Amino acid sequence: MATTIGIMVGSLREHSYNRMIADTIPELVDSAQYEFISIADLPLYNADLDREESPESVKRYREAIQQADGIIIVSPEYNSGIPGVLKNALDWASTPTKTAVLIHKPAGVIGATPGVKGTILSQQQIRQTLDAVQSYVMPFQKMYISQAMEKVDPESGKLTDETTRRYVQRYVRSFIQWVDQVQQMNGQ
Ligand SMILES: Cc1cc2nc3c(=O)[nH]c(=O)nc-3n(C[C@H](O)[C@H](O)[C@H](O)COP(=O)(O)O)c2cc1C
Repeated sequence: MATTIGIMVGSLREHSYNRMIADTIPELVDSAQYEFISIADLPLYNADLDREESPESVKRYREAIQQADGIIIVSPEYNSGIPGVLKNALDWASTPTKTAVLIHKPAGVIGATPGVKGTILSQQQIRQTLDAVQSYVMPFQKMYISQAMEKVDPESGKLTDETTRRYVQRYVRSFIQWVDQVQQMNGQ
């Protein structure tokens, strides 16, 4: 069966560059299946809401992660770090502590910015959070996209820069192999 990859975007902006890059992934590597996992309707994390009967949006979100073989996060950097909406979403996926859906889940991180430093700082924090949740973040490749506005086409809403398309394609192909390796390690 084809690997199912959940794609999570760390920006809620309508014309988000990160969303455009995420939306391009399925056409770059068609050997996997993709599910886009929405974080927009999650409430702010509140342990009082995090009971057996959690909010519907949280249930849907956790189920979507559960069903994916691996998760790729495509996110901007805000104030030298992880966007609050994404941290909130990862916190919701980190509980209940012993059965959280991100535990032992393979994860990849891609980030795009109109700036020149490619979301390095944001990705460090995303990796740190995924580490805390015991996800297996692909260790050997990084995907930093700078000057994103020159690499996408706002009309089609897709990543159009050929070199970057090749890099993302290579990253996603490696990620599929990483999912296989982690599944073997997990005895799946
Ligand atoms: C509150 C805020 C803080 C930002 N901080 C950074 C930053 O630290 N580093 C960076 O590269 N870009 C920063 N930016 C610019 C974002 O990279 C830019 O808005 C980008 O387009 C957001 O990603 P998106 O297009 O996917 O929404 C910041 C933007 C906002 C709104």
